[in-house]
Amino acid sequence: MAMIGGGRNAFIGAVHRIAINMDGQVDIVAGSLSSNPEIAIASGQDLFFDEERIYTDYKTMLEKEAAMPKDKRIDFVSIVTPNFVHFDPAIMALEKGFHVAIDKPMTFTLEEAKKLKAKVDETGLTLLLTHTYTGYPMIKQARQMVKNGVIGKIRKVYVEYPQGWLSNFLEGSNNKQAEWRTDPKRSGIAGAMGDIGTHAFNMAEYVTGLKVSKLCADLNVVVDGRLLDDDGAVLLKFDNGASGVLMASQIAAGEENCIKIRVYGEKGGLEWKQEDANTLLVRWLDKPTEIYRAGTGYVSSYASHNSRTPAGHPEGYLEAFGNLYRNFILTVRAKMNGEKPKDEWLDFPGVEEGIRGMAFIENVVAAGKSNEKWREFVV
Ligand SMILES: NC(=O)c1ccc[n+]([C@@H]2O[C@H](COP(=O)([O-])OP(=O)(O)OC[C@H]3O[C@@H](n4cnc5c(N)ncnc54)[C@H](O)[C@@H]3O)[C@@H](O)[C@H]2O)c1
Repeated sequence: MAMIGGGRNAFIGAVHRIAINMDGQVDIVAGSLSSNPEIAIASGQDLFFDEERIYTDYKTMLEKEAAMPKDKRIDFVSIVTPNFVHFDPAIMALEKGFHVAIDKPMTFTLEEAKKLKAKVDETGLTLLLTHTYTGYPMIKQARQMVKNGVIGKIRKVYVEYPQGWLSNFLEGSNNKQAEWRTDPKRSGIAGAMGDIGTHAFNMAEYVTGLKVSKLCADLNVVVDGRLLDDDGAVLLKFDNGASGVLMASQIAAGEENCIKIRVYGEKGGLEWKQEDANTLLVRWLDKPTEIYRAGTGYVSSYASHNSRTPAGHPEGYLEAFGNLYRNFILTVRAKMNGEKPKDEWLDFPGVEEGIRGMAFIENVVAAGKSNEKWREFVV
């Protein structure tokens, strides 16, 4: 495989590489790792790529890799660049016959997301969208329990993603990650809602299996001089009539990355948070709360397939990321061998979730500006 972005000093590219290497199924052999040619070359050397497979622009890389003999050529490409450099490399990679892993939000606009889906459908290739948190085993357990009706018809969803790292005007102090995330030209029309609200939205739809059909949003720019929302709350209506609340903030001082979800049905409720990722609380109307743990014999095949260690050995963010890649790779491999992927392998976010995420961004920003109480969720 090859990587686009993720050079020296980049954040998420290195996390992707750890996740990819976790199961020993893939070699990372090529890359155009930075927008800066010198850093692209130095970063490729850091990873011991052959000199001829260190590229300073992704177009040349995709051209040259596509022209290689089949046994030498890459099978897929991971795109870990800022949001405005997602669509073009993804389309080109698919056109050259490569599967694609891409970080969220999938594209810069909803229109691009739809074009990307059309290209995925046309080529029959596979796309992984790295919504990290739905790779956790106990999130998969929660989804299966809801699906099997264990807590009854879903009535209420609370999902939140509080961060504090943008509590100050960090974009004014040479912090690359803060700079592009707060710049509408590179991040898109949303700030916190695009960056982490999309994760919360994806988690709510994934765990419940429901679709948001209406929303009402309050978006705020709290830090002076900032150009995009850094805080917000959204009321949700789901397609089964359930209601929900989604909160995303990057100015919640002192908060780290404790994404959390609570889902309540007619018979009971589920609660999960990243700071205690191997635990799922299952609440009941008529008996004490139960504590489900990852790696045990009683969890679903989906949860156990996504654990690597026996119960009690902490697995976290990196393993959740690894699960996304493992399922993507198992699926791609099965398809390449003409085999049918197992249902557990196919359980990773893809282009459909990418479209929902981009629709969330466009709807939430429009709802934030609107004086109407409810806005239909338009895709
Ligand atoms: N899934 C998650 O949990 C998660 C977490 C963080 C970031 N992300 C997403 O990952 C993406 C990258 O975020 P980041 O924080 O790592 O950003 P970053 O600024 O740390 O890194 C971006 C990298 O892309 C490179 N780049 C930019 N333009 C390029 C081009 N034309 N060709 C090659 N390389 C290019 C930069 O040089 C840099 O190496 C974003 O879309 C972000 O939303 C996802």
